[in-house]
Amino acid sequence: MEIVETKDYEEMSILAAEKVIDRVLKQPQITLALPTGHTPVGLYKRLVEDHRKNETPYQDVITFNLDEYTDLSPDHPNSYHYYMNHHFFQHIDIQEKHAHLPDGTARNLDLECERYEELILKHGGVDLQILGIGQNGHIGFNEPGTPLNSRTHVVKLSESTRKANSRYFHSLQDVPYHAITMGLATIMNSKKILLLASGAHKSATMFRFFHEAVTPDFPATILKHHPNVTVIADRPALKEANVTRGM
Ligand code: PGA
Repeated sequence: MEIVETKDYEEMSILAAEKVIDRVLKQPQITLALPTGHTPVGLYKRLVEDHRKNETPYQDVITFNLDEYTDLSPDHPNSYHYYMNHHFFQHIDIQEKHAHLPDGTARNLDLECERYEELILKHGGVDLQILGIGQNGHIGFNEPGTPLNSRTHVVKLSESTRKANSRYFHSLQDVPYHAITMGLATIMNSKKILLLASGAHKSATMFRFFHEAVTPDFPATILKHHPNVTVIADRPALKEANVTRGM
């Protein structure tokens, strides 16, 4: 695992954007898997700035988002469809039909999970998976206790995750109780993984990530079994980590 420490959030975002742009230029038909949340906002901002300035092309890029809430329509301001359009898709030249998210409003959610998983496989799997990490070690919405061999599935969100995400909603009651997420095995099938972490509130999380053995209790630990992971984290997030950094 490669671990890169940056000074702050801005530098983390710039470095992550450079890596993504480099991959998109080298492989214009790349399949990306994308996260939401606070962490990647700066990355998307940089990618959009770069697209405006340098016209990095996204016409042939395929994207799959990690997760989506159930019961929120795509135009609901708290849905991840909305987030992705707002922060990224509407500002670049990606084709709408190439930008995939799970449909959290599907009538049969289990079938929707199967469809999503098959679609990823049909595209040859994910080339570059970008991840944030939840304070409880979740990646995507794979909460503690998720089987390590899970594929795309419906999850019941933990109360800590609902509370953490309620900052985006009017109140905790408005936060959905369920979501569809790529599973841990789906994530592990990606050829390359970029994990981003920022802020002192993630420092205990990063300590556990680096020092705990692989366990469903802290789902991100599974990434230690992946052969091609780069962690880009800022100094506050790594302040307790006690690991060797280097490109
Ligand atoms: P955050 O969320 O980027 O908003 O901290 C990360 C996550 O929950 O995966």
